[in-house]
Amino acid sequence: MSVETLQELLIDELKDLYSAEKQIVRSLPKLAKAASTPELQEALRSHLEETKGQVQRLEKIGEIVGKKMTGKTCSGMKGVLEEGSEVLEDTEAGMVRDAALIGASQRVEHYEMAGYGTARDFAKLLGMDDVVELLEETLKEEKAADQKLTTISKAVNSQAKDEMEEAA
Ligand SMILES: [Fe+2]
Repeated sequence: MSVETLQELLIDELKDLYSAEKQIVRSLPKLAKAASTPELQEALRSHLEETKGQVQRLEKIGEIVGKKMTGKTCSGMKGVLEEGSEVLEDTEAGMVRDAALIGASQRVEHYEMAGYGTARDFAKLLGMDDVVELLEETLKEEKAADQKLTTISKAVNSQAKDEMEEAA
């Protein structure tokens, strides 16, 4: 066992998030390119930029806690993103694909929200206020990204339904 304290568990969670964010930075361009709805493309592209900032924020946290953020692979996010890529194999460009892309992207956001919420609570208990603040900034961005996707999904999902009815 290498994790024995809450502090070590926090570092572990942070490394996991760091790996997750780096994977997301690599995947988002492909997902954005595959979207047909301009609003969805824009949402994914702007979240890509936001995600790059989140990577930097975790590096800053690494400096505060005196630990490298590298060295761990988040296999959960790897799986979530693999499922996102499967969407591109299973669908043609159009509203059904966009609906599936939103579903996949919201899985990413919810996974992150769980991770950041947990890390934030650990940091709070450990009295690491500057770390809490940085984690909350990112958590806020993830929640906003998720809400934006929910808004976009309303139009996309109903268009996807029409698209399927036309094809039938
Ligand atoms: Fe993120």
